[in-house]
Amino acid sequence: MATQVWTETEVTKVAQRLESQGAEEVLQWGAQAFSPKIAFASSFGAEDVVVIDLMSRVKPQVTIFTLDTGRLNEETYEVMDRIRERYGASIVSYFPDREAVEKLEREKGFYSFRKSIENRKECCGIRKVEPLNRALSGLDAWITGLRREQAVTRSGLPKVEVDTAHRGIAKLNPIADWTTQQVWDHIRKNQVPYNKLHDQNFPSIGCSPCTRAIKPGEDIRAGRWWWELPEQKECGLHVKPKP
Ligand code: ADX
Ligand code: SF4
Repeated sequence: MATQVWTETEVTKVAQRLESQGAEEVLQWGAQAFSPKIAFASSFGAEDVVVIDLMSRVKPQVTIFTLDTGRLNEETYEVMDRIRERYGASIVSYFPDREAVEKLEREKGFYSFRKSIENRKECCGIRKVEPLNRALSGLDAWITGLRREQAVTRSGLPKVEVDTAHRGIAKLNPIADWTTQQVWDHIRKNQVPYNKLHDQNFPSIGCSPCTRAIKPGEDIRAGRWWWELPEQKECGLHVKPKP
């Protein structure tokens, strides 16, 4: 059966309706409207394993992909495998371009991202943004585990939006309005496998050299690129081009 082609206006209209719906309804709509040209981008943090658990209840099944930057923590690979086993899910990995990584490491070493914002964005560009563009190239919609509470840069996040940074495809953020408490209640109640680093004060987990544990009272993203200002802490996966 051919899928419907959604225009920007139609997505915006549906988005208004879905804003008052729950995460499962948003996922169910996405799976039905866009399958098989829809996928979930997962870094297997607490939010993402919740989305995977919710997705296991909707039909048709949605593909899960991950951007394997080559600098992930051991604990992240471990949770990926536990998720594979628990949900019988196949996880599609996207690696960075080999030549680009070889050139970066040859010319700038292994920790260039600590030296300047430009260098950090260059590394994220090679290891995350370009592979994401490749992952999204054949899709009409993608799903994320983004939440409004996570950062100042995410406070206005809609549950469904038109992703102008990626050819105007639909972007679904089904748990945009969830609190941290709701995320963990869901994990515990449903015994969802989660990244063990969360038990060591890592509320937000990215690449190993750019993530550390937070101290009591610190912001939940304080351990990500801790040497940068809060408004700079976006790696380019979720930025919108300036109008
Ligand atoms: S980031 O932009 O700062 O790295 P964050 O770690 O908060 O993002 O994750 C937000 C959402 O982006 C995740 O819920 C997930 O949908 C997506 N995402 C982040 N990192 C990855 C990754 N390595 N692979 C796939 N998706 C990712
Ligand atoms: Fe590179 Fe750090 Fe970005 Fe990972 S988070 S891609 S290691 S700069």
